[in-house]
Amino acid sequence: MYPTLQVNDFAAPARERMTAMAWEYLDSGAGDELTLAENRQAFDRIQLLPNVLRDVSQIDTSVSFLEQRYAHPILLAPVAYHKLFHPQGEIETAQGAVWADATYCVSTMANLTIEEIAKEVPEARLWYQLYVQRDRECTKELIARVERAGAKALIITVDTPVLGNRVRETRAGFALPAGLERAMLRDVPEAQKVTGHGTDLDGIYYPLVNPAMTWKDIEWMLGVAKIPVLLKGILHPKDAEQAVHVGVHGLIVSNHGARNLDTAPATIEMLPEVAHAVDDRIPVLFDGGIRRGTDILKALAAGATAVLIGRPYIWGLTVSGAAGVNRIVDLLLTELKIAMALCGRPNIPALDRSLLRHPSR
Ligand SMILES: Cc1cc2nc3c(=O)[nH]c(=O)nc-3n(C[C@H](O)[C@H](O)[C@H](O)COP(=O)(O)O)c2cc1C
Repeated sequence: MYPTLQVNDFAAPARERMTAMAWEYLDSGAGDELTLAENRQAFDRIQLLPNVLRDVSQIDTSVSFLEQRYAHPILLAPVAYHKLFHPQGEIETAQGAVWADATYCVSTMANLTIEEIAKEVPEARLWYQLYVQRDRECTKELIARVERAGAKALIITVDTPVLGNRVRETRAGFALPAGLERAMLRDVPEAQKVTGHGTDLDGIYYPLVNPAMTWKDIEWMLGVAKIPVLLKGILHPKDAEQAVHVGVHGLIVSNHGARNLDTAPATIEMLPEVAHAVDDRIPVLFDGGIRRGTDILKALAAGATAVLIGRPYIWGLTVSGAAGVNRIVDLLLTELKIAMALCGRPNIPALDRSLLRHPSR
């Protein structure tokens, strides 16, 4: 029996279980939310053209990249402040990730430190997402810390020199509730003071990210980090080429869940061009708008090596903690397997662009 519950079914009960402010923070995009809608609609415009009479008696969802084998191509994207959604916060997420056999990318803005998460859930496969700090020493120390804590890769988020204009979030008066902290930034004095967005005279700069970061800083970090470095937030094929050129180990096609630049294209629209520019030299991961196994199949067929999900696993976390996180990944994986079988593709390397049809083009 296939599950009666669908991933989207988790959104409403999750909303009931969190504050209105937390919901606006989670759910909203930037500006008029045109990119937010487009992240979904662009998936829906793509049709899948299946092949028949291929042996699909065994479906293998495993993928290999960065010298690791993964049982399936679904990772948990970095999302800030899990204690807004569950009292145990990131520990619960890490446990759900273990049950789901998924890698969990811990955000710089987590409510717990990576050491606390790794201690409570030692089997967790953790990556760490870095918001590069204004102070290089501070950034260097963060990288060394997460390596000591066992992080397997470092994601540098490069699409956020300033935060996006998140209208709903701002109108809801978003601020970290008392008692919740940016645990990894405990020693950064500004970190505990920041409440809302821009806090200096210009009103757009946010003290916790470095707006002056350039490719030179990426080169510096490649010299500092001992674990693979991926850039998150690439949309432009020229930036993808530059990323390969400076020697990063992977990239993530992302528009930050449509929370930054409104009217930016949907990530699935840009994926084929980015994958073409990269030409298999490094892994190309993908996120934005994934709510169905067919979305995952489309992304993989369009050139992604693996995918990350954001809001859906937070719905699961809110509804039933680790079990909910596990359930969300499991639902998507089941749907992916069904879609692979129906497309006549028994494994991930067999997914290719011939499956994708764009009737509007
Ligand atoms: C509430 C929320 C918080 C986020 N926090 C971070 C973060 O701290 N660092 C980061 O790189 N991306 C962050 N993201 C972006 C996600 O990593 C990811 O790119 C996005 O959620 C994917 O889109 P989806 O939610 O449609 O799956 C956040 C997204 C959401 C929804």
